Amino acid sequence: MRVVVAPEEVRARVREAKRGGLRAGFVPTMGALHEGHLSLVRRAREDAGLAVMSIFVNPLQFGPSEDFTRYPRDLARDRALAEQAGVDLLWTPGTPDMYPVPPRITVAPGSAGDRLEGASRPGHFAGVLTVVLKLFAIVEPDVAVFGRKDVQQASLIRGMVRDFNLPVRIVVAPTVRERDGLAMSSRNVFLEGGSRADATALVRALRAGVEAFRGGERRGTAIEEAARRVFASTRVALDYVACASPEDFAPVETADAATVLAVAARVGGTRLIDNAVLGEGVEGDVYVAG
Ligand code: PAJ
Repeated sequence: MRVVVAPEEVRARVREAKRGGLRAGFVPTMGALHEGHLSLVRRAREDAGLAVMSIFVNPLQFGPSEDFTRYPRDLARDRALAEQAGVDLLWTPGTPDMYPVPPRITVAPGSAGDRLEGASRPGHFAGVLTVVLKLFAIVEPDVAVFGRKDVQQASLIRGMVRDFNLPVRIVVAPTVRERDGLAMSSRNVFLEGGSRADATALVRALRAGVEAFRGGERRGTAIEEAARRVFASTRVALDYVACASPEDFAPVETADAATVLAVAARVGGTRLIDNAVLGEGVEGDVYVAG
């Protein structure tokens, strides 16, 4: 595995590999790698001879009161994990590499970016789409892999690729979970003591909502209520639970199998998100052994 920092260098190396007949598969991350990220690398490998990963904690997508400064960073550990997972080219730019001057032009996500995560984190998706557009422009991947764990992000990226005719294919891979169902997240390292057990409230809420749907319930508000009840007996502070359209994340009055049930909550000082497609539930997701 080769590790590069300069944008020109990652671009040159990808171009060289492409000239040699390889397709480039790209996995953008913010590091603190876990099995969720690594599953995306393996997925990228299925379509591409060259697996490229970026690690960049993007200041543009964090609000002023969010956890940018305390976001977990451990490059030595990440390098080892990336190499084991089969990354060929690891790109770790610093903020001055990505933003030599503060960006004046940013991507506007539209109304789908104002809902759910966008409502709770104003400006978040503009920051995500802007950095992903830059990452794509520098790496020039044939295919890029994102996780369904961040379903609204993946959907907005698909929308950007379509609306801007970007020459990259987007693949969305299933959520990787711990054995008890907790979705893997870089922020899980902050869950100390009882918080780790409390954090399962999110997936338990999703299961409750999916159960209601399977029992015949179709009213979005009733499915949300079934999920919300799970939080009543916990110390977890619910931010939102919502039945949302997978296209634009607008509220859904009458749910169907494609409806997304999305949840966000604060466990101790840590904000976590999770989601399930009502027709699929969480059983079909990937569970780590151990
Ligand atoms: P980050 O949170 O590091 O996630 C990088 C990629 O890993 C995203 O596509 C995310 O959806 C995926 N991922 C995270 N947890 C996962 C899990 N449990 N199972 C499967 N995939 C999972 O998302 C970002 O970084 C940033 O917003 C980024 C796209 C890199 C732009 O800065």
